[in-house]
Amino acid sequence: MTTEQADALVIFGATGDLARKKIFPALQALVKRGTLTTPVIGVARPGFSLEKLRERAKESVTEHGGLDPEAFPKLAKLLRYVDGEYSQPETFDKLKQALGAAKLPVHYLAIPPSMFSTVVSNLGRAGCAEHARVIVEKPFGRDLASSEQLNQALLQVFPEPRIYRIDHYLGKEPVQNLFYFRFSNTFIEPILNRNYVQSVQITMAEKIGIEGRGRLYEETGAIRDVIQNHMLQLVASVAMDAPTGRDLDALRDEKARLFRAIRPVSPNEVVRGQVRGYRSEEDVAKDSKVETFAAMRLHIDNWRWASVPFFLRAGKSLPTSVSEVLVQLKAPPYSVFGENLCDPDASTNYIRFRLGPDVAIAQGVRIKLPGEAMRGEELELMATQQPSDHMDAYARLLGDAMKGDATLFAREDSVAAQWRVVEPILGNATPVHEYAPGTWGPAEAQRMTRWADPAPTHRSK
Ligand code: BG6
Repeated sequence: MTTEQADALVIFGATGDLARKKIFPALQALVKRGTLTTPVIGVARPGFSLEKLRERAKESVTEHGGLDPEAFPKLAKLLRYVDGEYSQPETFDKLKQALGAAKLPVHYLAIPPSMFSTVVSNLGRAGCAEHARVIVEKPFGRDLASSEQLNQALLQVFPEPRIYRIDHYLGKEPVQNLFYFRFSNTFIEPILNRNYVQSVQITMAEKIGIEGRGRLYEETGAIRDVIQNHMLQLVASVAMDAPTGRDLDALRDEKARLFRAIRPVSPNEVVRGQVRGYRSEEDVAKDSKVETFAAMRLHIDNWRWASVPFFLRAGKSLPTSVSEVLVQLKAPPYSVFGENLCDPDASTNYIRFRLGPDVAIAQGVRIKLPGEAMRGEELELMATQQPSDHMDAYARLLGDAMKGDATLFAREDSVAAQWRVVEPILGNATPVHEYAPGTWGPAEAQRMTRWADPAPTHRSK
């Protein structure tokens, strides 16, 4: 892994949706922080111009986070533009010229995965790939086989240490916080295992529906869209062992080990849901069986987690937008004070990592009520609580890729192991059940376990 600072950033798909929503705001943030001073070369299909690209960038930052009067003009000056078809070698000759004396460019493929291999092989042919890094967006394929094909195409031109696969959840501040909290305190690691943990629930709920992304969703569905990547990364963040050593791959090695220990999901342990009204969305088949919700039970086959169920649920058009990891602890073995505290399903001890929209780490405990009787009440101790105006995940990840730090990017072996986990439940392997918008998915999912209602959002200070 080279950790030299890159000297140019090339964005394929500079006029696309991802560039508008995420990439330009992230670039402005990096300029503001003083960490982006290199040329930024936008590549897009014919018909655009540098002026139009600057205009597009301006609209993007204005709509997404606000235009910074000092940073934006600097970003606009860094922008360059190359136009041409991705399938035409001339486009890449023009890019080579635009790169000028740059020795270590980063190529960001913010384009549909079907174009990856064409672009990558043209980069190689035009001599733009030497010493360069490449950033690719999820999805990394549609299943294990296609992700392996995609990797082969990338590996023909870029060696693995120079491939940066983005899963933006890894760049999120609260996910970093979870990880930091686990491995910077002595009291938590001794209890995060099968001896003390009853179950783990991970929820990624979104209130918004499909909102015009019907075509994309028909190709993906919730399992491919967020479970195979974001949610399994959350499982790893809470369940992996501490990284050993300080080399840049230490963390990714531990994660890969954890992914390998997750048993492929049994079709009997998944419930797929489709929100009522989905089939009337634009670009959605009238008889579509694609899921907008999925809930499942995972098993981790290792000494730490054997027999502890991990319940995952994610979906669109749910009652609220919230991401949360709830580690439910076992009930006390014996009730000293005569209260019924030993019901294994009703333990009030837990650790809760709220990842969004607010950020909090909380612990559920029982505390004695004042008075003669040895009676208690449930309380939540808030370990941290902070407003979520943190560094945007894309800014962090792009900054890391420019520096040459791949720690927060998905490695080939992990991506393959993640696909292996969901492979048995992809497509129509299981039925899809309808659910009403604004509910927690189909009744079948409710019956899977006693889901804890995510706690109300805390007010930011
Ligand atoms: C994306 C998915 O990767 O993550 C979207 O494609 C989803 O469907 C989004 O809405 C959620 O990200 P965030 O950062 O809003 O939690």
